[in-house]
Amino acid sequence: MKKALILSVMLVFSLFAVSSAFAGGKCPQPRKTKAAPGSVAKKDKTGSADAANGKKLYHKTAKPMACKMCHGDKGDGGGKLGKALKPKPRNFTCAETMKKVSAGQMFHIIKNGSPGTGMAAHGKTLKDKEIWDVIKYIRSTFVK
Ligand code: HEC
Repeated sequence: MKKALILSVMLVFSLFAVSSAFAGGKCPQPRKTKAAPGSVAKKDKTGSADAANGKKLYHKTAKPMACKMCHGDKGDGGGKLGKALKPKPRNFTCAETMKKVSAGQMFHIIKNGSPGTGMAAHGKTLKDKEIWDVIKYIRSTFVK
């Protein structure tokens, strides 16, 4: 009787471990993306940006596709399309990795893309202002 109880507790714990392993991206997460030039990395125009518009872009309207398709609904890199990619899309919820990623760094990569990864350039499909909007949304919602 006692043995059965111990076994079922172990089963529940292992199921939990498996499901949380699939729930989101790794943390700390390896980064293939190169550093933006220093002057760009220090830029930050999120002060006057519109997070609500950024939310719309992230989840729906960004072209060629919504950011969530790869970076996930929860910003953890667990989007449908991200699963097949190597390297994996950035897990914005990973504080340890994101402390190395400034707003200006994000701007540079969203605009110009990250060569050698699935991260495409959005400089032709998003205006600079829209890029700052989506950065503000990501940093205020997912980054801890
Ligand atoms: C097709 C999948 C895909 C889509 C769509 C996508 N990304 Fe990415 N993104 C990636 C991958 C892959 C990386 C590179 C991860 C790495 O460096 O190891 C990345 C990297 C990034 C980085 C770089 C962070 C750093 O480490 O410097 C930012 C910022 C980012 N994405 C934001 C966005 C935003 C905002 C959108 C929507 C406008 C978007 N991404 C759309 C796959 C995607």
